Parts: sequence; structure tokens; C-alpha cells
Amino acid sequence: MPTHQSLSGASDEELLQRMVATHPERFGEPYWAYFDVQVAPALPPRPVVLDLGCGPGLFLRDLGERHPSATLYGYDVTPAMVAYGRQLTYAGPKATLVQHDVTTQPLPHAAATVDLVSMTAVLHVLDEPLPVLAEIRRVLARQGVFALHDWIRQPLADYLAWRRDCFGESEPECSRRGHRLFPVHNKYTVDDWRWLLAEAGFAVRHHAQVRASHHMFVASPR
Ligand SMILES: C[S@@+](CC[C@H](N)C(=O)[O-])C[C@H]1O[C@@H](n2cnc3c(N)ncnc32)[C@H](O)[C@@H]1O
Repeated sequence: MPTHQSLSGASDEELLQRMVATHPERFGEPYWAYFDVQVAPALPPRPVVLDLGCGPGLFLRDLGERHPSATLYGYDVTPAMVAYGRQLTYAGPKATLVQHDVTTQPLPHAAATVDLVSMTAVLHVLDEPLPVLAEIRRVLARQGVFALHDWIRQPLADYLAWRRDCFGESEPECSRRGHRLFPVHNKYTVDDWRWLLAEAGFAVRHHAQVRASHHMFVASPR
């Protein structure tokens, strides 16, 4: 099965640089406005937080500034991502970042001990999402929150226009990357995500389209 990297033609280092460059787009004001209303009020005073497929660790850095009493863990399969996150300066608590494949390894946390699991732009990449969702459900506390933030299906023309605007890609680059990645980024509709979460035993408390390309689901174990 081709990976995201092989489909985009990007090396790990290029993907890292792209994640860093596009971080403000994924985690801008609309994201935090939504998080503050729909996620933060559900967290205990000293939450344990996991970010799965944490990439360069910038989300955990930003979260720690907003929630300084949180204990933060980030897991990512790509060594370059973990190495980048480990050398970040944290104004809040320093995240523990570990190289870890969520499709082959259980999460190193006891059952029902985690208050928030965040996953941004990762689940669509995985061939089999249900076992990973089962593992997330296992570690979440009864009132814990799963914040799933991922791509939703867009028409091809909208997707290509979005890439040109957002990434500033030239026409040839947009055509090359855009057509290869269209099936990856446009795999799931909002209803597909809702179905997957229900199938995995989650109740969706709230969901919203935070950007044209991405939807956020706030779910808890049922
Ligand atoms: C599109 S990036 C998103 C990174 C980060 N969540 C963000 O929004 O900045 C997808 C990330 O998922 C990671 N990833 C892909 N498959 C994974 C797996 N099986 N286990 C852990 N991480 C994985 C990749 O290494 C990459 O860092």
C-alpha cells in the first residue's frame, strides 16, 4: 500500500518542513476558538493529553501554553518529526515525544487514564482505522475526549484551488501533488467519519467544519 509520503513524492524532511510551514493554517484562531468552547471545558484541572501522529510537536507546545498544568505526550512514527519536536522551546510543560507506530504498537498508557486524545490529519492515512480507534477508546477516561481533526471530502476543483491558495503551489506542482493526494485527502465524508466513530464505540458530542478542508469531531467513549 503506498504511503502518504510516496504518494506526495515528499521525503520525511520535506513533509516535516511542510507541517511546520502549514501549522498556523491547521491550528489558527478558528481551531482554538472551537477548542476553547467544545473541548477545554470538558478537561479536568490537570489533564493527561496524547497527540497521536503529533508531527513536529507544535500543537502540544501551543496546548501547553494554554493549559500549563497538562501532562503532554506526543507519538509519531517518523523519527524526523520526533527529533524536531524534542528541540522545541516550550513556554508551558515540556511534552514527552516518542517514536511510535499507532498501527502496530499499543499506546503505553493504562486503560481509562487519559483525558484528551488529539489526532490531526493522521487517521485518513491509516489503512485500518478501527483498531487504532479501539486503542484510543481503551486509554480514554470515561469522561475523556477524543478530538478528531481531519480532512473531509471536497470536489476536485475546490481541492486543487485550496492547495494553490493555501500552499502557494505553482500550477505544475499543484497538478502533480494535488492529483496524487486527492484520493488520500478526500477519502472520508463527514458522514463516513461519524459512522467510523460510532462503529468504534464513540458518541460524538459536537462536530463542526473548522475550515473548508477539515472537520473537527469531539467524541467520548459511549
Ligand atoms: C499530515 S501529518 C500531521 C502532523 C500533526 N498532527 C500536525 O497536524 O501538525 C501526519 C503525521 O502522522 C504521522 N503518522 C503517519 N502514520 C503514523 C502511524 N502509523 N503512527 C504514528 N504516526 C503516524 C506522520 O509521521 C506525520 O507526522
